Amino acid sequence: MLKVGLIGIGFMGRSHLENYIRLESEEFPLKLVAICDIDPAKFENKFIPGNIKVGEKKFDFSKYNLYTRIDEMLEKEKLDFVDIALPTYLHSEVSVKFLNAGIHVLCEKPMALTLEQCQAMIEAAERNNKKLMIGHCLRFWPAYEYAKEKIDTKRFGEVIESYFFRGGNTPKWSYQNWLLQKDKSGGVLLDQHIHDVDVINWFFGTPHAVSTISTNILPASGYDVVSTRYFFNDKKIIIAEDDWLLNGDFPFEMRYRINFEEGNIIYERRELKVTPNVGKPFVPEISNENAYYREIKYFANAVLNDLPIEVCPPNSSMETIRIALAEMKSADNNGKIVNLK
Ligand SMILES: NC(=O)c1ccc[n+]([C@@H]2O[C@H](COP(=O)([O-])OP(=O)(O)OC[C@H]3O[C@@H](n4cnc5c(N)ncnc54)[C@H](O)[C@@H]3O)[C@@H](O)[C@H]2O)c1
Repeated sequence: MLKVGLIGIGFMGRSHLENYIRLESEEFPLKLVAICDIDPAKFENKFIPGNIKVGEKKFDFSKYNLYTRIDEMLEKEKLDFVDIALPTYLHSEVSVKFLNAGIHVLCEKPMALTLEQCQAMIEAAERNNKKLMIGHCLRFWPAYEYAKEKIDTKRFGEVIESYFFRGGNTPKWSYQNWLLQKDKSGGVLLDQHIHDVDVINWFFGTPHAVSTISTNILPASGYDVVSTRYFFNDKKIIIAEDDWLLNGDFPFEMRYRINFEEGNIIYERRELKVTPNVGKPFVPEISNENAYYREIKYFANAVLNDLPIEVCPPNSSMETIRIALAEMKSADNNGKIVNLK
């Protein structure tokens, strides 16, 4: 039976909490024993909702050992793994602390704010022979897994062009408003757009260069709207955009369109559709399972059975940060092409 600790029960931590409760109810051999959050109001179910429907239930916190200080939790609990759903500026420091204490780490995306912080996490995992995985949930999202499989198997031939988008209302729920401070979150670029950067890295590998233009309207966030063109040697056209200023009645949206030699795969408004060049369009049968649930179960299973982290290895998550940092450099220089190879 794995003993698990969860740190941070803000917007994302609550989604993880729901999934631990579900895994326990399904008799998966783990037990969430401890929860830590600096803000004790969270233990009274005082939450601000986020931009997607997760963790909106009332939780029974009396079942867990509760902490407001991370060091106290580390000192008092005997954990097999810890799940870190803290603000990004704490990811590296807290991950390294737990890895050094011999505890496996599942940490929310983005991995960290700098390559040095990412490197420190990887080195701590290797030095202590512990598992580290970054929660890039789209690698566990059935509609994105479907596209990945079709790209890898060339089912519709080569990719000619591809467009990715995420966006919605400005996030206003975060602890001390950290999400809207560039030095703490990296703005929309590192916090939200990073999902598509990781998908592009996963689907196509590292581009040889990037060019990003961005708009900043909010006082401290740095980047509020971003648009990136990714350059690959085979000349396929890949674009990803993100906008967290869609403040009208605009539910959070993530979408993609992949144009292959022999057809398109389109994902929008949570619906997946394939339109082959020859034959009728169709809706592929894919799992409707929750990606966060699948991600956590994958990591727990890897810890339980000592399996390698293959779907989302930390080196790949660090490469995603390297690409995103090149995008930042480009955005800061009016879209200048920044080489990655
Ligand atoms: N995978 C996804 O789809 C997804 C979606 C949203 C957020 N995230 C990621 O999840 C992480 C958390 O984001 P969020 O939106 O939940 O933010 P949040 O501000 O809602 O939650 C952070 C929580 O950490 C707590 N906290 C802050 N400092 C602490 C400390 N020193 N010790 C203990 N607790 C502390 C806060 O009280 C808060 O409850 C970020 O890395 C974010 O990028 C991922």
